[in-house]
Amino acid sequence: MMKRIRKAVFPVAGLGTRFLPATKTVPKEMLPIIDRPLIQYAVDEAIEAGCDTLIFVTNRYKHAVADYFDKAYELEQKLEQAGKTEQLELIRNVLPPGVRAVFVTQAEALGLGHAVLCAKPVVGDEPFAVLLPDDLIWNRGPGALKQMADAAVVDDASVIAVQDVPRDQTSNYGIVATDAFVEREGRIRAIVEKPTPEAAPSNLAVVGRYVLSPRIFDLLELVKPGAGGEIQLTDAIAALLEEERVLAYRFQGTRFDCGTHLGLIEATIRYALDHEKLSDSARRLMQNALDELGVVDLD
Ligand code: G1P
Repeated sequence: MMKRIRKAVFPVAGLGTRFLPATKTVPKEMLPIIDRPLIQYAVDEAIEAGCDTLIFVTNRYKHAVADYFDKAYELEQKLEQAGKTEQLELIRNVLPPGVRAVFVTQAEALGLGHAVLCAKPVVGDEPFAVLLPDDLIWNRGPGALKQMADAAVVDDASVIAVQDVPRDQTSNYGIVATDAFVEREGRIRAIVEKPTPEAAPSNLAVVGRYVLSPRIFDLLELVKPGAGGEIQLTDAIAALLEEERVLAYRFQGTRFDCGTHLGLIEATIRYALDHEKLSDSARRLMQNALDELGVVDLD
């Protein structure tokens, strides 16, 4: 039986060029939805799924991510002196007790597969998760990774998050072909990175959550540069399918592609409308904005 995952890998070495000029100094993983950076949502999801070791694969421009997870002594002291216990808790809980962060450098941007391979010395020989913080998954119940981690143990298999996308968008994703689904799961028979709509085996796309068997590391060492000239995680998964069971998992939740402007806007709207304290005001100001701009017909 597959062991429960305890380690989660966060590839955060990308350049974030879509969000320039903001990402000239602020890594895209640090862009906020309301008051928390994207990376925090992914970290919380990993912790909820049972992970206690978080491995960030960064580069020399991403000091802000390491700083964010470091202890902020001066700030803590000031908040303590000012009696601001609520805020103190917020910054202390960025990493709850018992959870540790490990930083690994990816010296060259050789692709997602290469970034994951950089975490091998820390992960070792046990199943682990990969979370792409750009993909923010909102759910009222258990997080997507928790759902997948449970399935991985029960089904003794690697598990990859998927969702249907419009045909004309297949070239933005890894696309899978599967056996018939039973409830939320279908065994993957083929996977291809960013195929054209004509070449795509389906319109079932990989979303940035993976529970992987450690065998993937050996396979990553063998894969040659693929789509975009990069070492692709998808290509190693294609090799893994030949040896082990890998399941596609239709998670419960809504995924926002926060690697795009619209995705970030959509996520902000959703989190604002669902926010304990802000929802009523957010609804009102959205209505005002629509009224003021004279938007009568959203179509
Ligand atoms: C990566 C993966 C791709 C996956 C996607 C999900 O692509 O390579 O298979 O579908 O994440 O967000 P990227 O978006 O980094 O180009």
